[in-house]
Amino acid sequence: MNIEALKQTVAALMAGDKGLLAMDESLPTCNKRFAEVGIPQTVEYRRKYRELIVTTPNLGSCISGTILFDETIYQATNNGVLFVDILKQAGIIPGIKVDEGAVNMAGFPNEKITEGLDGLRGRLEKYYTLGARFAKWRAVITIGYGIPTDGCIEANVHALARYAALCQEAGLVPIVEPEVLMDGGHTLKTCYEVTEKVIRKLFIELETQRVNLHGLLLKPNMVIAGKDCPEQNSVDEAADATVNCLLESVPAAVPGVAFLSGGQSAADAAAHLNAMHVRFKDKLPWALTFSFARAIQQPALELWKGIDENVKAAQQMLYLRASLDNAARRGEYSAAMEKMK
Ligand code: 13P
Repeated sequence: MNIEALKQTVAALMAGDKGLLAMDESLPTCNKRFAEVGIPQTVEYRRKYRELIVTTPNLGSCISGTILFDETIYQATNNGVLFVDILKQAGIIPGIKVDEGAVNMAGFPNEKITEGLDGLRGRLEKYYTLGARFAKWRAVITIGYGIPTDGCIEANVHALARYAALCQEAGLVPIVEPEVLMDGGHTLKTCYEVTEKVIRKLFIELETQRVNLHGLLLKPNMVIAGKDCPEQNSVDEAADATVNCLLESVPAAVPGVAFLSGGQSAADAAAHLNAMHVRFKDKLPWALTFSFARAIQQPALELWKGIDENVKAAQQMLYLRASLDNAARRGEYSAAMEKMK
């Protein structure tokens, strides 16, 4: 393992006020988001959409890395320039989703296990050759009656740790993503307890599998109440719960944390990240940024609608969202900025 190279990638991904843009929706997820806004669900429309994203003017001033999907890493612009090359020219590091999705876990009703370890070493070598320098694996943890079980948590964190070890061997920084879903009626307190337990178990397993903590990034959910919970918390309460939960569970050796947005609105996700920086300023042992998909892309997707004439407006929206998340990372975001659009 070349830890110095991994550390360099980590430092570049976490630089300044930048963050990551997840554009790694699997085919079913991408098609579902397209269907919701009436965009045809074809390879060509997915290619056009990803071209819109990677060619957004000045994207590299806000975004340090983008997470691609397998289909996308081979795709090119209408003029034939590979997306990976466009990203590199913009100073954006290409990354790749390498898990093969979450499926029902045998013997564990309503719980999921993420697949994709078989053959992973070979796929990582190929992605490195194609230009990727970091990877992502998402585990899904559901809160419900009697779940999550220890069996589900342990199987998922074991897979995350095996994936992370293989990534480091291949020269790719692993982004380890144990997502506790915001689906359901659970309280913020329950989200806190489950998130803390999952992340603690994750770091025990990463240690067991000899993963170097200095050469990885954590991608957690924020600690918030479930979307059907009648008691929703203030921005400051969610920010405090999130940071306190991570302080209890994430070793200081970890260089960076990059949050997923998880279905929060773009404004909520920015407000939460901002409050964490305002309230904890210099008290954080790790860099804290964003790795959003929906909270950056969704407003742009809704403007684009698959229509060429809308590309420019959609790109402006994408850039605006990313730059508001930069402001949040600096602790300079305010809800009033939403109205200046
Ligand atoms: P969201 O920000 O839409 O949750 O997506 C982030 C991600 O990469 C999920 O795996």
